[in-house]
Amino acid sequence: MNSNPHAAYDAPQGLNVLITGAAGGMCRGINRRLGRAGHTLLCVDLDLGRCEAAVKELRAEGVSAYAFAADVTRQEDVERLRNEVKDTVGDVQALINAAGILDRKMLLDHDVNSFSRAIDINLVGPFALIRAFAEDLLAANWGRIVNVSSIAGTTGYPYPSYAASKAGLSNLTRSLLVDFWGTGITVNSVCPGVVDTPMVIQEVRDQVPHKVPTGKIVDPDEIGALIAFLLTDDARSINGADLVIDGGATQVFQLFDRARG
Ligand SMILES: NC(=O)c1ccc[n+]([C@@H]2O[C@H](COP(=O)([O-])OP(=O)(O)OC[C@H]3O[C@@H](n4cnc5c(N)ncnc54)[C@H](O)[C@@H]3O)[C@@H](O)[C@H]2O)c1
Repeated sequence: MNSNPHAAYDAPQGLNVLITGAAGGMCRGINRRLGRAGHTLLCVDLDLGRCEAAVKELRAEGVSAYAFAADVTRQEDVERLRNEVKDTVGDVQALINAAGILDRKMLLDHDVNSFSRAIDINLVGPFALIRAFAEDLLAANWGRIVNVSSIAGTTGYPYPSYAASKAGLSNLTRSLLVDFWGTGITVNSVCPGVVDTPMVIQEVRDQVPHKVPTGKIVDPDEIGALIAFLLTDDARSINGADLVIDGGATQVFQLFDRARG
């Protein structure tokens, strides 16, 4: 345990960190950075085969990691997951909600079912995970929750199910501060811009030099490094934040771009 006299709460050193969407592109960077920081990774994904492959790679690098299958939208999966994780490593100290989908449908392409599916995965899923593990975090009086939201939740965006779900996720983050008041548990969102993962189509990649002031696509390792910092005790006062990591894209005037400017 950390014996820093300035710390309000003792932070465990090597955390048990549960990561959803752990087989995905962004989680390559998240897993790598959290593994390198010495945490034990509980890797969760709908796709068990890809999740096991990710865990195999991590273990080859000396990281303590385990693979679990779960659909975050199914309460029974989430409850089973909590029991399996407890049996495997005991209590979890940090939750990273990274599972998500981007359904590229504009209004007229959507129906209620497709819209609801995106909300279920991107918003209800994180809620289900946080709800399932909240009592354990509260009992320990210390914890870290990080929701992977998006800059699409802070601005308008052509795909409304994605934008609405991520806006909801960022506001869920802020709203939970009241539940964890006076504890060592923090809840934050990271809001990436365009990250180098299979989710990003070539047309968007081509726009990066003109729309992003750094001129660069974000590397998944940058997201991992930010989340690794959020799990430290030095980050104990970062709480309820939407941490934008987009190369400055949302800070520049939308009608101006470098190609025209
Ligand atoms: N790539 C980007 O540019 C970008 C930007 C901003 C935010 N994000 C967010 O980052 C997160 C990770 O995105 P990514 O780029 O790695 O995408 P990805 O498609 O590579 O990974 C998403 C993972 O989530 C899993 N998943 C989907 N539905 C699930 C469910 N119901 N239960 C459990 N797992 C499920 C998928 O199997 C996949 O492995 C997402 O929440 C995404 O919205 C991505």
